[in-house]
Parts: sequence; C-alpha cells; structure tokens
Amino acid sequence: MKDIFGNALLDYQNGNYTEDIITSTSISDEDVLSLPYLFRTYSEMPKIEQKALDLCKGSVLDVGCGSGSHSLYLQEKGLKVKALDISKGAIEVCKKRGVLHSEILNVLNETETFDTILLLMNGTGIFQELVQVSKYLSHLKSLLKPHGQILIDSSDIKYMFEDEDGGFWMDANSGYYGELDYFLSYKNKKEAPMKWLYLDFDTLKLASEPVGLSCELVIEGNHFDYLAILTV
Ligand SMILES: C[S@@+](CC[C@H](N)C(=O)[O-])C[C@H]1O[C@@H](n2cnc3c(N)ncnc32)[C@H](O)[C@@H]1O
Repeated sequence: MKDIFGNALLDYQNGNYTEDIITSTSISDEDVLSLPYLFRTYSEMPKIEQKALDLCKGSVLDVGCGSGSHSLYLQEKGLKVKALDISKGAIEVCKKRGVLHSEILNVLNETETFDTILLLMNGTGIFQELVQVSKYLSHLKSLLKPHGQILIDSSDIKYMFEDEDGGFWMDANSGYYGELDYFLSYKNKKEAPMKWLYLDFDTLKLASEPVGLSCELVIEGNHFDYLAILTV
C-alpha cells in the first residue's frame, strides 16, 4: 500500500489542500471523494453516522478511523476511544487533530476488548469479500466486552445494476454483487487496487447468525444505506 489516502489526509490537515481524491470501481466511473468530507463535523455527517455516534457507550474502538472525525466527536463527549487504521498517514492526522489514543493496526490484530465497536463509511468495506465476512465478524465478536455492541453501516448497491426498465443485469456467475475492485488516485499517483465489500442488510444478518451475533437494523439512510447493530 502506497498510503495515497493517508497522504491526502495529511495534505488537508497541513493546509495543503489543492485537489480531491479520485475513486472508481469495477462497476462505476470516476468519482470525487472530497477531502473536506473526510474531516466532517457531527452536523455535516449523514444521519446514520449521527445515529451510530448517539448509540456509542463505554469504551469505543473506531475501526478504519481515517482522519478521526468520529473518534474526536466521541472523545469530546467524554467517551474513552481508541482509533485504529492501517494507514500511517491517517493515524498521523488523528494524532495531529488531538485523538488521544490511536494506533496503526489492522483490526484483525487488535486484542483489547471494548463496549462499542464502530465501523463507519461503508464499514463492511474492510471485510473485502463475502468469504471473509465470518472471519471478520468472529474476530470483532471476540473484541466485545459483555453486553457490547458493533455498530456498522453499509449500502445495498443492487440499484447500481438496475436498467431503465427496472430490470437487473447482474451476472449470476460472478459472485456476490457487492464485491468490488476499488481504485483510488490523488495528485497523479495511483493506489494499488483494493477489494471493497458493500453488504446488503439481509446478507449481513445471514452471515451474523452462524457467528453467534444477533443483527438488527437500526435505521436506513437516504440512498440504500443502513446502520446495523450486532450484539451477542
Ligand atoms: C472509507 S475509509 C473511512 C474512514 C473513516 N471511518 C470515515 O468515516 O471518514 C476506510 C478506512 O479503513 C481503513 N482500513 C481498511 N482496512 C482496514 C483494516 N483491516 N483495519 C483497519 N483499518 C482499515 C482504511 O485505511 C481507511 O482509512
């Protein structure tokens, strides 16, 4: 990983904001990922993120924290938060913004336990592929304190396969439709392609049960997105 994402966050944090990140996927053309959006305040967040933050309790693990916007809000509310990310640049930004406890770490290597585990901005993305969902969910479950909760958001991207007549053109032979290749570039530098998983709520619920997690829908967002709560 070249950490293009982390470098872009660092540029913004250091006052060197000149352009946004460009993303594309295996099923969609180029799109702009606004750097200021990655530094959003509570009032600028979508309602499913606001709801997730409102539900946080006790000690919180912010998985894939990015610039630490969710961690900072919770910390200011008085909660004990640990922010983690595989991006070195992201964690440097968290520290510069005042997140007290942050670490460069893959969530699969986390060992502490928490009352709340937060995964936001398509939190299922880090699972990468459908076959990996139960591995990640089992691990997240092992990081929960008694009566703990996992708050995770994602989207059902089935709408992206809908044609003008309302029919769907998904290829039944090519795996789960939410498994995408994700491409990111910034200032003419390209990140290595990543796998990124969008999971519809029913599939998340189905994958949660064998792992011993109960999965409930908290709220739906404005665009096929939703927030789920997983408990033991
Ligand atoms: C879409 S960004 C979301 C950032 C932040 N949560 C937000 O809402 O602004 C996903 C983040 O997850 C991080 N990430 C991806 N896989 C991870 C893993 N296995 N463990 C920890 N962080 C991971 C990426 O580096 C990136 O910062």
